[in-house]
Amino acid sequence: MKENTLEKLETLKKEKNAVILAHYYVDGEVQALADYVGDSYYLAKLATTLPQETIILCGVNFMGESAKLLNPEKNVILADEFADCPMAHMVEIEKIEEVRKAHPDIAVVCYVNSTAEIKAHSDVCVTSSNALRVVKNLPNQQIFFIPDNNLGRYIAKQVPEKQFIFHDGFCHVHKSITKENVLVAKAVNPDAYVLAHPECTGDVLELADFIGSTSEIIDYATKSKQEKFIICTEMGIFYELGQKNPEKKFYSVGHRQFCPNMKRITVEKVIKALEIMEPAVKVDETIAQKASIPLQKMMEFAQ
Ligand code: 13P
Ligand code: SF4
Repeated sequence: MKENTLEKLETLKKEKNAVILAHYYVDGEVQALADYVGDSYYLAKLATTLPQETIILCGVNFMGESAKLLNPEKNVILADEFADCPMAHMVEIEKIEEVRKAHPDIAVVCYVNSTAEIKAHSDVCVTSSNALRVVKNLPNQQIFFIPDNNLGRYIAKQVPEKQFIFHDGFCHVHKSITKENVLVAKAVNPDAYVLAHPECTGDVLELADFIGSTSEIIDYATKSKQEKFIICTEMGIFYELGQKNPEKKFYSVGHRQFCPNMKRITVEKVIKALEIMEPAVKVDETIAQKASIPLQKMMEFAQ
């Protein structure tokens, strides 16, 4: 990145009392300028501890909303207002109500990749890195896991004592990684370990040596004695994997590991957002009051 771009950013951050948070799926050059980079849980938790008045979020809409719901008094700016996760819209409120009616004791467990409105109708939120802990710690025996089918099934296998109802939501990026993609990558590099995100389909997860959230994948690769890894998640993660492990080799599983929404965030948009303090994340007051409860609960149950 050019030196004058960095200087401009530093000046603007001071002037606006702002901090920049980024997810591992945004472009490497955006991750490079961020003050903090992390997975969804880390970013949500971190947002509650920062002294700055403004948070510039480099990620997708639900991440901006989570930061705003947990910090209603702060300005939360999403670097691109159209960066939205399709999975976040995959549940209908009527469906939640229908399941609640049929199963009065069920806990509606909502993957954080959901709109604030869906969160407002849920009991507790989870991310890929805390879902297992949260589900285990819940007193409820019955779980309605929304929206991600793959993550829900992955968690359910590890909690056989509870009964699950799944939804049919999915991440198009992870769903498009096939078992055949992984087998081809493995045939080329048989000694490479397969690291996969739990949003991948069950047959891809069966081939994985390790399954985890983005930061768990990075941690695993960094601590591992292995030198070669096949990565089954969005390609933005290669930036931090390479930064932390310049001597190790990371292989993709094909051309589809690309989230077009995460890639909407550019350095220019981050600078513009800082200059004009827009687009600000806004959540309807009534929805915000209800939606912040399952997020707070996630923080308690994830301890
Ligand atoms: P994590 O970084 O929490 O693993 O989330 C993955 C994801 O799909 C975010 O959009
Ligand atoms: Fe949504 Fe998948 Fe993109 Fe994450 S990678 S923002 S889950 S579409």
